[in-house]
Amino acid sequence: MESLASVVLAAGKGTRMKSGLIKVLHPIAGLPMIAWPVAAAREAGSDPIVLVIGHQASAVQGAFRGATDIRCAMQEEQLGTGHAVACALDALAGFRGTVLILCGDTPMLRAETLKNMLAYHLDNQAAITVLTALMEDPYGYGRVVRNAAGHVTRIVEQKDADPEEQAIREINSGIYCMDSEFLFNNIRGIGNNNAQGEYYLTDLLAIAVNKGLTCLALPAADADEIMGVNDRVQLAEAGRILRRRINRDHMLNGVSIIDPDTTYIDHGVTIGADTTIHPGCRIGSGTIIGSGCEIEGAASISDCRIGDDCHIKAASVLESSELGEDVAIGPMAHLRPGTVLGKKVKIGNFVETKKIVMGEGSKASHLTYLGDAEIGRDVNIGCGTITCNYDGVNKHRTVIGDDVFIGSDVQLVAPVTVGRNSLVAAGTTVTIDVPPDSLALSRVPQVNKEGWRLKKKP
Ligand code: UD1
Ligand code: CA
Repeated sequence: MESLASVVLAAGKGTRMKSGLIKVLHPIAGLPMIAWPVAAAREAGSDPIVLVIGHQASAVQGAFRGATDIRCAMQEEQLGTGHAVACALDALAGFRGTVLILCGDTPMLRAETLKNMLAYHLDNQAAITVLTALMEDPYGYGRVVRNAAGHVTRIVEQKDADPEEQAIREINSGIYCMDSEFLFNNIRGIGNNNAQGEYYLTDLLAIAVNKGLTCLALPAADADEIMGVNDRVQLAEAGRILRRRINRDHMLNGVSIIDPDTTYIDHGVTIGADTTIHPGCRIGSGTIIGSGCEIEGAASISDCRIGDDCHIKAASVLESSELGEDVAIGPMAHLRPGTVLGKKVKIGNFVETKKIVMGEGSKASHLTYLGDAEIGRDVNIGCGTITCNYDGVNKHRTVIGDDVFIGSDVQLVAPVTVGRNSLVAAGTTVTIDVPPDSLALSRVPQVNKEGWRLKKKP
């Protein structure tokens, strides 16, 4: 295969986002905006990928830590797109082949589109190919000027265009393929004598044409794809389009999504066939869900491993937790990080868990807090049970053996152990370890004062 490198322009701040965070780091469907075009470039076969960064450079760099195909080039001052690409040259030293040039703010761009463009560029042995689109309202974009024969001659920016050029509806997407030799030899020849006093990358087209080199403009099949995100309205729109693609892939893989328009699944989620996802769910990156599961409405799941045939009932929140097969959660339960549940565990409504291991078949059906606990198999945790795991300074562990029955309204003051097959009576405050096979009971003896009410309220 031909060798391919990419340059992704991302030095600008993105003022119209009105944000403290640089535009290209705003998240869309679980990834920072810039990670989307980078993924498309990678999938198209690009290595290396050079990011031209300026504003919040270390934050952008940080988003790609550990990626061996990513190089960063600093552009201290944003003097225009031509200057930005010139800043990437050092990082491309020694490279020969085709250079793809992209912007960090086009998250909807697909690898297929890049591959098509690249094939067209190489088949025609072009020096430069620009991806274009026909827009109803081309205002603000660079316009593609073609001669009588239909060949592209140059690109003119909005602020430099005369009325006739402003009427052109074919716009520059800002995405290009360039022959590396042509790029390296000509990028420094660009001037800044224009309405904005900037070095325009687009001037390379006229340079190629003047040199008699092949210069092509390829209209994109889908204009949506090349849409840049400039403000938060477009950010939301891009999110909608990307989520629709993600949901479609899951559905084609056998997942039922009742209402794709209100189902928010991030990039990088795995879901097994015959799982059904009800409206309003949020499923975050890194989550793996087995097959045959039912995820009811408004569940929020992030960074979890969920086994087959689990039932997550409405409005439950699951964070960094692991569920075995056939587990039932909720409605309205909260699994906090470090919750590990065995097969057939049942966690009912208004139960909160944190850093616990719970063995197969155990149940906590209602209104309970379980934190820093190790709970065996077939344990029943009664309604209103609380592990008192925090003494104001340190956290302590509760250990509950297999087959234990904890009655309702029990407080387990940690550190404490309840031995296997014991019963803790309702209302007990457990402060000392309970041996196996025992009954633990701590209640103030009940007193009945007969006739007491009649004296108070004759
Ligand atoms: C550019 C194109 C225009 C095209 C439009 C598509 C030029 C001269 N114009 O215009 O023809 O229709 O994109 O969106 O190229 N950037 C840098 N350093 C700079 C300047 C820009 O990294 O010095 C980055 C920005 O962060 C952004 C991208 O390059 O990601 C495009 O810059 P922008 O200022 O938005 O260019 P436009 O004026 O929109
Ligand atoms: Ca732009």
